[in-house]
Amino acid sequence: MMGRNLNIREIEEQLTVPGYVLHYAETVDSTNDWAKREAVQDLAEGQVYLADHQSAGKGRRGRAWNSPEGTSVSMSLLLRPQIPAERVSMITLVMGMAAAEGIRQASGLDVGIKWPNDVVIDGKKLCGILTETDGRVSYCVPGIGINVNVSEFPEELADKATSLYLQTGREISREKVTAAVLNAFMVFYRSFCERADLSALKERYEELLVNRNARVRIMDEKDPFTGTALGIDEMGDLLVLRDGTDTIEKVFAGEVSVRGIYGYVI
Ligand code: BTN
Repeated sequence: MMGRNLNIREIEEQLTVPGYVLHYAETVDSTNDWAKREAVQDLAEGQVYLADHQSAGKGRRGRAWNSPEGTSVSMSLLLRPQIPAERVSMITLVMGMAAAEGIRQASGLDVGIKWPNDVVIDGKKLCGILTETDGRVSYCVPGIGINVNVSEFPEELADKATSLYLQTGREISREKVTAAVLNAFMVFYRSFCERADLSALKERYEELLVNRNARVRIMDEKDPFTGTALGIDEMGDLLVLRDGTDTIEKVFAGEVSVRGIYGYVI
């Protein structure tokens, strides 16, 4: 399905929070790379970089992220969080929450979060987030890709990925989804920055967490194990009761990946 170009004015009209400046390109290499190039300038946080097509979209772990032109949301934010460097990685969970809330609002779908930040439904991924910073954290760039009106996926992804279109059977406005995610993010981000932790957001995050009380496999190279995910702590670590023990392990986002016992989510 080929979409039309994103209507930036329409997104702006649906923003209910101040603090964003939207930038649009029909095609760019990667909106994350675009935001990082802009970050060297003296720009305030809240710049939003949006594109209809990425020629070199990036996923996590060095993978590529491809979306058919005009069918998805590909967006990166430029942030300047005034918090200790070791806490910046939590922004990726904040964005995951905002993505889940925004998608729920715009589509009515009962989506959840697979820890730390994939938005999922029916065991399939709808949205991925890649957050990049420099060593000094002079910037933080969370980049989000949402499969909105994608009508099919390559064979190797078909059992792992889905889109709002495939789940609802109708086209969903990318402008509406974008604005809803941005509105949710600003509220969550402000709350996060007050304490530089997730204490104020943890309850809502855990409501959205599909892994909660579910069996998980922790894919740690040195110490892989299975257990039951209980929730997160205020630093965003996943708390997992290790099988056959009374030990609650803290799994740090970014170091290891988590899978369900039977598949990607459950
Ligand atoms: C993942 O692997 O799940 C993360 C995917 C992140 C994709 C988004 S699309 C917008 C932004 N620009 C990129 O190059 N990547 C992120």
